[in-house]
Amino acid sequence: MNRRTFLFLSGGMVAAGAARTAVAANETIVVGIMGTGGRGTQLARAFHGQPGCTVAYVCDPDRSRMEAAASAVERIDQGTYRPKTVTDFRRILDDKGVDALVIAAPDHWHAPATILACKAGKHVYVEKPCSHNPREGELMVLAARKYNRKVQMGNQRRSWPKIREAMQALHEGIIGRVYYSRAWYANRRGSIGRGKLADPPDYLDYELWQGPAPRRPYRTNVIHYNWHWFWHWGTGELGNNGVHAVDLSRWGLGVDYPTHVTSCGGRYRFDDDQETPDTHVVGYDFPGKISISWEGLSCNPYGPDGSMFGASFHGEEGTLVISGTGYKVYDIRNKLIKQEKGPGGDATHIANFLNAIRENEPLNSDIEEGHKSTLLCHLGNIAYRVGRDLRCCPQSGHIQGDKEAASLWDREYEPGWEPTV
Ligand SMILES: NC(=O)c1ccc[n+]([C@@H]2O[C@H](COP(=O)([O-])OP(=O)(O)OC[C@H]3O[C@@H](n4cnc5c(N)ncnc54)[C@H](O)[C@@H]3O)[C@@H](O)[C@H]2O)c1
Repeated sequence: MNRRTFLFLSGGMVAAGAARTAVAANETIVVGIMGTGGRGTQLARAFHGQPGCTVAYVCDPDRSRMEAAASAVERIDQGTYRPKTVTDFRRILDDKGVDALVIAAPDHWHAPATILACKAGKHVYVEKPCSHNPREGELMVLAARKYNRKVQMGNQRRSWPKIREAMQALHEGIIGRVYYSRAWYANRRGSIGRGKLADPPDYLDYELWQGPAPRRPYRTNVIHYNWHWFWHWGTGELGNNGVHAVDLSRWGLGVDYPTHVTSCGGRYRFDDDQETPDTHVVGYDFPGKISISWEGLSCNPYGPDGSMFGASFHGEEGTLVISGTGYKVYDIRNKLIKQEKGPGGDATHIANFLNAIRENEPLNSDIEEGHKSTLLCHLGNIAYRVGRDLRCCPQSGHIQGDKEAASLWDREYEPGWEPTV
């Protein structure tokens, strides 16, 4: 038995029934992983690989994925330790020995599960986008504060050292006053085709997969991953990958809520069941003569300069471009004057979350910041869905003077699953 497993089995885990309100500096932090797709499995390995952290549970209504994720964790400790497997994440919340829930289930689960976890006394690492609609984000901030829990969104670039350095340089004026940022994502995704009604596979609890989303019959081209492209469960490319880039833009410019949002685009490349656009351009105006644009190309991988992901910042004295794990700075004549590259990955973001629980280190992506960036994605999607510009309150982002658009601030829930704080 290695040291970590020993600590976990001996002292790291408190007896069931005794709530653990604080974690001492030398104690093991015990986490449960909700959702074991590509992302949840990656996070399970990354959390278990952190010093002083143990994955006690992996959870998924798809039993085949859950067992595979348990095996992936087991391999880290050379077969000496295997996490428990449960299909219902509420069993993790019942376990008083668990300190934190890591949520990598589909988007419609993020907020309802976060709020239930906070109520059960757990800290939460929740994948991006933090919510499925704007109101959920507001409720998550309330829940984190009311139950005094650390809630971090999984926009890991907030913890990458060279991105943090770029942001500091921007804020210190390396390109003068910055008034515009362009965010983009480009990929070469295929068609999701036309789905058929069918019985769910026997290894999947479809009822539990749907959870808070009102019931719909099972279709063959939704699970897994393609739920991203249906408004009922997903948030499109803007909520999927756009949120990473838009978050960089918002962070670099130091803005919160927009006053005006425009959208154009559509499902241009394929004629299939996908509801969300594959080509999407969104513009945001902020108070103080500042704008952001986002360009999403799901079916053509050529973004600015051939890159698939990035955010550029345009100022009075030059330009700063973030792509990959680093950044470049150009003067106002487009001459490259600085170039930096550093490590990426998830480890630093997860370490920050664990240090916040252990030592009260400030979160690099507290839920309030996660909510503001996710809200920009929701607003771009709402403008797309209603087919017109939005006017928003600069203090809260709330949509003004458009009842139809404002009705998309919230969603209907499956009875019994309405989130309340
Ligand atoms: N931060 C990043 O860079 C990053 C990268 C990839 C994905 N993500 C996010 O992670 C989430 C998952 O993405 P994915 O690609 O793994 O999707 P996926 O659809 O492949 O996997 C989601 C998994 O969650 C499971 N699930 C559904 N309901 C559940 C429940 N009640 N309890 C537990 N598990 C449940 C599904 O069965 C599935 O196995 C998404 O929200 C996505 O946006 C973030």
